[in-house]
Amino acid sequence: MRVHTAVIPAAGLGTRFLPATKAVPKELLPIIDVPALQLVIDEAVGAGIDHIVIVNSRSKPSIEAYFAESRPVIDKLISSGRGDMAERLQAIGRDVQISFAYQDDPRGLGHAVGCARETVGDEPFAVLLPDELMGTSELLSAMCDVCVSTGGSVVGLKRIPRDDVSAYGVITPAGEVDADGVVAIADLVEKPAVADAPSDLIVIGRYVLTPDVFEAIADLRPGAGGELQLTDALRVQAASRPFHGVLRDVRRFDTGNPVGWLAAVVEIGLEHPTYGPGIRAELERLLRRD
Ligand code: G1P
Repeated sequence: MRVHTAVIPAAGLGTRFLPATKAVPKELLPIIDVPALQLVIDEAVGAGIDHIVIVNSRSKPSIEAYFAESRPVIDKLISSGRGDMAERLQAIGRDVQISFAYQDDPRGLGHAVGCARETVGDEPFAVLLPDELMGTSELLSAMCDVCVSTGGSVVGLKRIPRDDVSAYGVITPAGEVDADGVVAIADLVEKPAVADAPSDLIVIGRYVLTPDVFEAIADLRPGAGGELQLTDALRVQAASRPFHGVLRDVRRFDTGNPVGWLAAVVEIGLEHPTYGPGIRAELERLLRRD
């Protein structure tokens, strides 16, 4: 068994980034010269995924347009001597099969993942929340290995200051974190008050789930914020099956809000082989003005 499908929930309205996201889905906002969504797909492909299921809303057709062949643009690039860029556009989605499922009524993350049930089928699958950029496939790859070896679901974990945990899913560990960062999980809770939080280990937006989660999703009742929460379906799994977390101190950007997006653009931009030196020079010039 191996994990070869990943679900990317992308039907959200992007309300934290309005009015920009009125016409441009937040998943397509650029990180330098590529959409954030492409970086998340690259992360999944780097972990061995070869099938991506994007859970989209029919009000966001430009997400599908990004994967469609753009013949006139490619012909124009070729005839003007920009064959490298033509090749880059033609490569979009070539190393991975892209499927679409639809969530036209956003009722929460659990509901979004449930919309991918038919397309995923009866096998373990990854979930990547596209608001979060990690810049590495190592975490997801390690999580896939733990799912295969334990036969149970796995969540990505990060330790954060306890005062900040109430925006996240928080786990109750069932033991110590081992040398590989793997920890058994007894329970999870979505967005607890700081005083009620069972630990300082939060679920970041990476999951590798066994397909029985779809039954738990089908039984979900509204949870935190009145939404059908994926965390509540995972609680059902944690109560009855092996369930683990993989803890990493990953660099993690939340690109769903303007400040997090800008932090990602600047930090990833500084590392960019073509644009990095120019971005550094511009930033130094700006900072010298103080
Ligand atoms: C979602 C999950 C939450 C997780 C978080 C990671 O929350 O429900 O458990 O910790 O992503 O970013 P959201 O950010 O959609 O409120």
